[in-house]
Amino acid sequence: MKEHRPVLVDKVIEFLNVRPGCIYIDATCGAGHHSRSILEFAGGNCTVVCIDKDPRAVARAKKYLADFSDRTIFINDGFENIKKILQDLKIEKASGILFDLGFSFEQISDPDAGFGFRQSGPLDMRFDTKSSITARDVINRFSKESIKNILRGFGEIRDAERIARNICSERKIKPFETTRELADFIARRRKHNRGIHPATQVFQAIRIYVNRELENLEAGLEGAVKILAPGARIVVISYHSLEDRIVKNFMRTNSRIKMITKKVIVPDEMERMVNPSARSAKMRAGEVLA
Ligand SMILES: C[S@@+](CC[C@H](N)C(=O)[O-])C[C@H]1O[C@@H](n2cnc3c(N)ncnc32)[C@H](O)[C@@H]1O
Repeated sequence: MKEHRPVLVDKVIEFLNVRPGCIYIDATCGAGHHSRSILEFAGGNCTVVCIDKDPRAVARAKKYLADFSDRTIFINDGFENIKKILQDLKIEKASGILFDLGFSFEQISDPDAGFGFRQSGPLDMRFDTKSSITARDVINRFSKESIKNILRGFGEIRDAERIARNICSERKIKPFETTRELADFIARRRKHNRGIHPATQVFQAIRIYVNRELENLEAGLEGAVKILAPGARIVVISYHSLEDRIVKNFMRTNSRIKMITKKVIVPDEMERMVNPSARSAKMRAGEVLA
């Protein structure tokens, strides 16, 4: 299997201001690629707390970072609980936190996780495999109105009403079970747009809803301010305009944060070419005021 390519690595290191002897939080460690870059760059005695909501991601990161076992702490939890996570670890203040939002290549390529539709899998889409609502529940049990609101609110889909109506009449004949069934159904009813599969936005909207991604991002950013030392950095890479709006507003309005990226940072042409998942990435960074 190919593996996840971390996005904007040099910029992450630069804006986190990675130095030896500090504690950094990788709030979305995935398979651990950004964590590894931080550990390698800082050298010596820097510690990285590697957090991920998906237990499968934490297992991958533990393996990938095995040679740094004395400098890593792995936590399977959501970054919205960052304050409690650090309290439990008895860490008072950290020097920087990275949020690399969305999902990883490993997650979308794992059919059992039900995020992608290139290979068929159960309609799941949960990062936290113990949380109660799956994509299957949304598609087969939610009202037409709720499905429409999810598609419109989180996917910014203009024909949300029509897609929701189509889904609700189809599921009376046979409930949707797999990611492929849903993707093929949508592809038959929506126009293809600039090479993007017609189901992409629909899947994105459902994933954002199932994992409460926008609420968690707001809580995670608020929590981060509480656990960072003066002068510490918050770096956020987002892949969706709604996420970037939250990050931008937070950095502009939080009285304890100074935004240090004057303009949003995006991957250069070369990175976008070699790593298609970097195409929509936007990075912003802030510094905690004294
Ligand atoms: C783009 S991937 C991160 C990839 C990682 N930076 C790397 O270099 O391998 C995003 C990760 O965020 C995790 N995630 C999503 N929401 C989360 C949350 N609320 N708390 C913690 N992790 C979360 C996902 O499970 C996924 O592994």
